[in-house]
Amino acid sequence: MDTPRRVEHQQTDRGYVPVYATGTVEQPWSSYSKTDHEVWDTLYRRQRELLPGYACQEFLDGVARFGLGDGGIPRFDDLNRVLRAATGWEVVAVEGLLPDEVFFDHLAHRRFPVSWWIRKPDQLDYLSEPDLFHDLFGHVPLLLNPVFADYMEAYGKGGMKAYAIGPDALMNLTRLYWYTVEFGLIRTDAGMRIYGAGIVSSKGESIYSIDSASPNRIGFDLERVMSTRYRIDTYQQTYFVIDSFEQLFDATRPDFTPIYNRLADRAPATAGDILSTDRVFTRGTREGWATNADN
Ligand code: PHE
Ligand code: FE
Repeated sequence: MDTPRRVEHQQTDRGYVPVYATGTVEQPWSSYSKTDHEVWDTLYRRQRELLPGYACQEFLDGVARFGLGDGGIPRFDDLNRVLRAATGWEVVAVEGLLPDEVFFDHLAHRRFPVSWWIRKPDQLDYLSEPDLFHDLFGHVPLLLNPVFADYMEAYGKGGMKAYAIGPDALMNLTRLYWYTVEFGLIRTDAGMRIYGAGIVSSKGESIYSIDSASPNRIGFDLERVMSTRYRIDTYQQTYFVIDSFEQLFDATRPDFTPIYNRLADRAPATAGDILSTDRVFTRGTREGWATNADN
């Protein structure tokens, strides 16, 4: 995509900023403070050291290929040169979470929205909304993988369709995103590895998802995933495990309309349930699980 046209200015916490026709903004790179850059460097170094042996090779390769380093917050323009050449994706800067249909439209056009702002030093381990570190470090490296890149575009298109069908279909599709793009695990010859962005951007959950005996680890099954509630306030009680990105992409190729219809009559599983039909890799000990309701 060409550089989008600026269409208007919008009043924000940092004054008037140009807003593009796509609802995105220019990354305000020169406005990052020394502390902002240090937060990036600290988080980057911590995950870079931890993730070999935890994250899948495709993710680690992506990080290496971008040359994401600890030299401060990356410039999106630099990343986009690599990304466009590799898979035709690009990142666009946004103020924060977008309405579903706007988010889907970006993905469908191979644009990944990244929050331009980064968390404060007292939020290194947890914050409740996605910031630059989560969006960029968590999501963007895998967009260099051709199969995953295609999956993300297809997800955006599927999202527009689910949005038009209605809220139940949208919920089913959101669960798929949650248990794959955000919290997915993958089986490799070297063992169980992480590919989900919500995990790789969290030190605590990176270790927990792979090493802890508490959570269930269950083989990916499309309809099972789409009818399983999830936790937004704790580590996951269940991780779904794919064998390969090809498997994930192939499973999501069919038209979901009949699946949405089928699932509408089925009560969702709770986040920690194990069903008789599950292919269980690890049955969780449930230690430390919250007892309040799932989403
Ligand atoms: N095949 C899905 C549909 O028809 C679209 C989709 C593809 C959804 C990939 C998610 C991931 O709705
Ligand atoms: Fe995310």
